[in-house]
Amino acid sequence: MTLKLLAEVSPQELLSGLAELQNHLLGYVKSMSLKCAVDLGIPEAIHRRGGTATLADIAADTNVHPAKVADLQRVLELLTASGIFSTAAGEEGGAVLYGLTTTCRFLVGWHNLTPMVPFLVNPLVVSSFFSMPDWFRSEPAPAGAGSLFELTHGCSQWEMGSKDTEFNSVLNGSMAADSQVFLEVTIAGNGHIFGGLGSLVDVGGGSGAGTKVIARAFPHIKCTVMDLPHVIGQDADGAGHENLQFIAGDMFESIPSADAVVLKNILHDWDHEDCVKILKRCKEAIPARGGKVIIIDMVRGLEHGEKKITEMEAIQNLFMMYINGVERNESEWKGIFVDAGFSDDYKIMSVLGPYSVIEIYP
Ligand SMILES: C[S@@+](CC[C@H](N)C(=O)[O-])C[C@H]1O[C@@H](n2cnc3c(N)ncnc32)[C@H](O)[C@@H]1O
Repeated sequence: MTLKLLAEVSPQELLSGLAELQNHLLGYVKSMSLKCAVDLGIPEAIHRRGGTATLADIAADTNVHPAKVADLQRVLELLTASGIFSTAAGEEGGAVLYGLTTTCRFLVGWHNLTPMVPFLVNPLVVSSFFSMPDWFRSEPAPAGAGSLFELTHGCSQWEMGSKDTEFNSVLNGSMAADSQVFLEVTIAGNGHIFGGLGSLVDVGGGSGAGTKVIARAFPHIKCTVMDLPHVIGQDADGAGHENLQFIAGDMFESIPSADAVVLKNILHDWDHEDCVKILKRCKEAIPARGGKVIIIDMVRGLEHGEKKITEMEAIQNLFMMYINGVERNESEWKGIFVDAGFSDDYKIMSVLGPYSVIEIYP
């Protein structure tokens, strides 16, 4: 399509284009407002009041200074316009009532993804994206190195975690919340994935939140969490789980033997070559007959037909670039499995749209 001259565009089209541009340019204000709302505890405050609250209620419950209540309303207005909160007229002309939309289902109560907010909207992560133009023009670094994060901060995200205990906690807390929710949903719908196993090792299992869900649901499975020493040292706690142990190690070196290896949100952190290296170590760890690797990650391009989900896949794929990661479609996954020496007879189970479990066999 050739671009029309300004004079040929109707005022309505022009306004629509300008609004789209502004919404993109200032899109980060949405992320920041959501982070602010979560930091202040606004979704929880509305939830505690039974699902609706006035501006005055919210201000009182979240300790907002009386002089700043009008500004708080601006945050609520944006988050209502962008689908996080809802509004309804108060009874008999009373004050507007703010409510929780389905999106808030993940920000309050059980199945809570709130700990992902301080990680995804973290200055160390967000600032990495300012390096994008430099990254595109610079020579490719050796495989696995030279990510946006490294270009900006001089070390990998995992090295940063070993030096900065606060970042390490934020990173592990975010993963733990995601793991807990995803594994509960997976086991509820696809428990057979773990049913026949006697042992498993959750490689890069972080603080073990996801493995604990498996260990609780399947007490007969001997579960091992393996992660880098600083992660096992700082956040791992297996208290109350007799069938759970933690081991510090490097998945590029070796993986403890088990009936199955679980890789949740691991392979999307690495490029094709590194994924092949990790899967080769996995293959050495499992029995040649009956063993399997359980990959929990996104599979792009599965049929879902919703524009919002297509956009989410594209955003997450670009987001992963900050550490040289990638979200893959089925044919990209298959290439990795085959190059690592696994059978091409894999099984993809969609748990929630693109969020999937893939079983691969030696
Ligand atoms: C994206 S997080 C996923 C954590 C967890 N599996 C989950 O989904 O919640 C990636 C994990 O891989 C771990 N990791 C990174 N490099 C590793 C290595 N060389 N060996 C073992 N674990 C590693 C990180 O410490 C981190 O816990």
